[in-house]
Amino acid sequence: MDHRILSIAGGGTAVRLHPTGKGAADAPLALLRACHERIRLFTSMAVQIAGAAAVTEQVSQAAVAAKRYFFEALPKHVADEEESLQPRLALLGSLASPLSEVVRQHRELEDVLDRLEVFWRRIASGESPGAPLPALTGRMAQLWDAHLAIEEQDVFPAVQRLDPDERGAIWQEMRARRARTEVASAKGG
Ligand SMILES: [Fe+2]
Ligand SMILES: [Fe+2]
Repeated sequence: MDHRILSIAGGGTAVRLHPTGKGAADAPLALLRACHERIRLFTSMAVQIAGAAAVTEQVSQAAVAAKRYFFEALPKHVADEEESLQPRLALLGSLASPLSEVVRQHRELEDVLDRLEVFWRRIASGESPGAPLPALTGRMAQLWDAHLAIEEQDVFPAVQRLDPDERGAIWQEMRARRARTEVASAKGG
């Protein structure tokens, strides 16, 4: 087991929350990509939690961190995509199919995460999670693989086609979402 991953509670690439001018136009993509790094990190952590031979203190803490990430930080990233990106990218045309697929996948992932939350809560209190955890975690990892691939190949490149002012406006919305709960850090999402 890779204890390095299990012990990470909220790491990932930090993105400055205060760029202005040209920096603000480039910032949305940087933060979106940093969020995907964190999704991959916490998904790896979830796979290791599911594969743990016993519920140790370290595994319990990892379950707390995974639950916190997927239910507190991830929703900000989903809101970035559905509320800030989607309406603007839809106006570009030609992206209708990947955009609607991405939203469908968000709902499917939320459903799987809701089911996983019960198991993470049990592990967090030192209890054994029960048999369905590895299969359900594997399903989540599979869904994330497909989802992140569509976004990175079909959706994110289109952000660069938006006018720099529009990208600056997206950045302000992303900052505002994080300012509600965090100070001078872009860890949310
Ligand atoms: Fe995403
Ligand atoms: Fe997404």
